[in-house]
Amino acid sequence: MNIKKIAKNQLKNFEFNKENIELAKKIISNYPEEKQQSAVMALLYLAQRQNYNWIPLVAMKYIAKFLDMPYIKVYEVATFYSMYNLTPVGKYFFQVCTTTPCMIRGAYNLVNVCKKRISENEGEISKDGNSSWIEVECLGACVNAPMIQINENYFEDLDPEKLEKIIDQTNQNEAPKPGSYRRRINAEPENSRKTLLGNKNA
Ligand code: FES
Repeated sequence: MNIKKIAKNQLKNFEFNKENIELAKKIISNYPEEKQQSAVMALLYLAQRQNYNWIPLVAMKYIAKFLDMPYIKVYEVATFYSMYNLTPVGKYFFQVCTTTPCMIRGAYNLVNVCKKRISENEGEISKDGNSSWIEVECLGACVNAPMIQINENYFEDLDPEKLEKIIDQTNQNEAPKPGSYRRRINAEPENSRKTLLGNKNA
């Protein structure tokens, strides 16, 4: 279970870089006037991406000013949703889904690999500074369980050996291939397909 923690060591300053200022303005313009504070989630995500995948308190304050809304409201959003990291994470951030479908297909074996290869403790950055891991709730790829997310990609149909190989690659700073590790295309059946046989693109 992912426990939200606020980093003890906080940044002193934060502001969007030029590119993100433009992007933030564009996002805000998608909302009607009077409703532009609804852009808060997207702006928090921009801040996270800009700041090595975590959001310091000073960024929440900056976004509050940017959207002309109370800081506490930005804080509430950032602390509610699990996709926002409020402490530093590894360059490779492993999110292991342990909700029921993944759990009954071996998610805790993947957690054990993360404990062995990355760090004994959830949320702790590995000694080489490269990786960290957490448990998360369903990531919406249950049909290819068990699965994990690393940064912005999904890795599916995993088992401990496959995850070990993925970690070997990230340790070498190589990008592992996302998708099914049983060579399925998307969520297609592995064999004996019985439906949509007449549909060429199914
Ligand atoms: S239960 Fe793991 S992706 Fe849904």
